[in-house]
Amino acid sequence: MSADTIAIAGDHGGLGLKQELTAFLKDAGHDVLDLGTNTTDSVDYPEFGFAVAEAIRDGRAGRGVLVCGSGIGISIAANRFTEIRAALIHDVTGARLCREHNDANVICFGGRMVGPDLATDCLQTFLNTDFEGGRHQRRVDKLSNP
Ligand code: RB5
Repeated sequence: MSADTIAIAGDHGGLGLKQELTAFLKDAGHDVLDLGTNTTDSVDYPEFGFAVAEAIRDGRAGRGVLVCGSGIGISIAANRFTEIRAALIHDVTGARLCREHNDANVICFGGRMVGPDLATDCLQTFLNTDFEGGRHQRRVDKLSNP
């Protein structure tokens, strides 16, 4: 596991979409670190947001994907870590901008909010878009020093 690895996790509300996105990532040849959950049993989204955040903080993954019912709780959880810039995404433009302007390292989805085709397009854009740097670097640096 390394910077090329993509960590993925979600709660029961995100399970179906997480499975779709995991299959997409593996089919595309990515190393995937699956941190659960993998059943429909009710679980607590903070644990899964923290698990992906810790994997990135500790260097076991370079980027992350998180899914809960709305995407809201799990994005809040991941953003508790200063190393994490988690973006809750509902469209491809947002997926592009969170990379270009915010250097987001985690993309979050609501499994009850977006369908698999849209989420896959967003994830592909997220993975293929570079950070623009420049004026955005100063702003991103400030995020690490609240
Ligand atoms: C679980 O029912 C739901 O609250 C959770 O998946 C998420 O939407 C929280 O933000």
